Amino acid sequence: MSILGIRISYNDRSNLLLEENITVKEPFNLFSKWYQDAVNNPSIIEPNAACLATATKEGIPSARFVLCKGYDSNGFKFFTHYTSRKGQEIVRIEGVASKLPFSDADEYFHSRPYQSQIGALCSDQSKPIEGRHILWQREVELKQQYSEGNVPRPEQWGGYNITPKSIEFWQGQTDRIHDRIKFRRPKEGEIVDNKYCFVGENNWIYERLCP
Ligand SMILES: Cc1cc2nc3c(=O)[nH]c(=O)nc-3n(C[C@H](O)[C@H](O)[C@H](O)COP(=O)(O)O)c2cc1C
Repeated sequence: MSILGIRISYNDRSNLLLEENITVKEPFNLFSKWYQDAVNNPSIIEPNAACLATATKEGIPSARFVLCKGYDSNGFKFFTHYTSRKGQEIVRIEGVASKLPFSDADEYFHSRPYQSQIGALCSDQSKPIEGRHILWQREVELKQQYSEGNVPRPEQWGGYNITPKSIEFWQGQTDRIHDRIKFRRPKEGEIVDNKYCFVGENNWIYERLCP
C-alpha cells in the first residue's frame, strides 16, 4: 500500500460530535469520558500518551510524547527531568505550566518499578552521550549502589501541571468533515454572542471550529 493511499475510516454521520450531545459543557468532564473510551479500547496501547509541545524564547518549537500521570480540574500532570530541553523551555516561557511540589514527585517516583527508577537516575535527560555503553555502565554502578526500594529520586526529576487555557475535542469523520469543539477561557471583556460562541460551565466558553 502506497503511503499516499493510507486513509482509515473514522465516524459515519450517525456518530457526530454535536453540541447538544455534550451533556456537561465543561472540558474536564468531557476529557474524562473520552479518556475512558481510550482506556477501554484494546487497540490503544498507551491511552495516556500525550504530545507535549514547547518553544524556546525565540519561538522555535519542539514536541515530544510524555505519559500523562493524572488530571483533574486543575490540569494535566506529567513527570520528567527539569533539566531536559522541555524542562528548560517550559519553565522559562510557558506561563500555564507549573512545577508540582517535590512531595508529589517523591510519591510517584517511589511507586515506579525498580528499572524505571534506575532509568531515570541513569539519564541526564536531553544531553548528548558518547554511546549506550555509558548508560549501561551507569546502570550497573547504580544497581550496585542502590538496591530495590532504596533508589533516591534524582534531584532534578519532578512533575508539571499544565493549567489549560483551552481544550479542543477533535472527532474524525469518514466524510472528512470533521468535528472540532473548542472550550476556552473568555478573553477579558469578551462578549459571548451565542452565535459563534456559547457559555459553558465553570467559566468555560465553547465554539465550533472549521475542520
Ligand atoms: C509514549 C512515550 C511516552 C513517554 N513518556 C515520557 C514521560 O512521561 N516523561 C519523560 O520525561 N519522557 C517521556 N518520553 C520520552 C520523551 O518523548 C523524550 O524523548 C524525552 O523526555 C526528552 O525530551 P526533550 O529532550 O525534548 O526534553 C516518552 C516517550 C514516548 C514515546
